[in-house]
Amino acid sequence: MHRMIVLYHSRTGNTEKMARAVAEGAIAAGAEAVTSRVDGFKAEHLRDYGAIAIGSPTYYGGMAAEVKKLIDESVRLHGSLDGKIGGAFASSANVGGGNETTVMDILQAMLIHGMVIQGTHVGDHYGPVAVGVPDQRALEGCRALGRRMARLMQAVDGRLASGA
Ligand SMILES: Cc1cc2nc3c(=O)[nH]c(=O)nc-3n(C[C@H](O)[C@H](O)[C@H](O)COP(=O)(O)O)c2cc1C
Repeated sequence: MHRMIVLYHSRTGNTEKMARAVAEGAIAAGAEAVTSRVDGFKAEHLRDYGAIAIGSPTYYGGMAAEVKKLIDESVRLHGSLDGKIGGAFASSANVGGGNETTVMDILQAMLIHGMVIQGTHVGDHYGPVAVGVPDQRALEGCRALGRRMARLMQAVDGRLASGA
C-alpha cells in the first residue's frame, strides 16, 4: 500500500503550506500522496494509507485540539495502525515557541499506535518545523520528510507485520 496521507490543521495557512510540501516530496519519490484537513476526516480512513503524516500549528506548546480530536477518535482503530509509517511537522509563531514539543506530541501518539518513525541526522531531527510563514529551509525539510516517508513505505512494502 504505497499511499500516503498528509493531515493537518491550519487557521492562517502556515501549516497548510508545510503539508503541501510534504506531499510534494512523497510524490517526487514515487508515492501516491494526498493532503487533507483533519476537520471532517474520518479516523477509520487512516486504515487506507501506508504512511500518515500529521501537521499542526503549535497551540500552547502542543498540537491543536482539532488534531487531538482525530487522534482520540483513532482509538477505535487501536492495533490496526501498527507498522504504518508516521511523521509529524509543526508551525509556531516564536523560535522556542514549542514547535518541537508539538512534533513530539504527535509522534508520541503515533508510537502508541505502533507506527514506525524515522528521525533525521540533518536539519530538524524530529520533524520539520517553521516559525511563521514557512521559509525555503522549512519547506525543503517538509519535502525531505515526504521523500523519506515514501521511501520507507516502499522499502517496507507491507512486510512490517502487525502484531507483537
Ligand atoms: C490558540 C493558539 C495558541 C498558540 N500557542 C502558541 C505557542 O504556544 N507558541 C507559539 O510560538 N505560537 C503559538 N501560537 C501561534 C501559532 O502556532 C502560529 O501562528 C502558527 O504559525 C499558526 O499556524 P497556521 O497558519 O497553520 O494556523 C498559537 C496560536 C493560537 C491561535
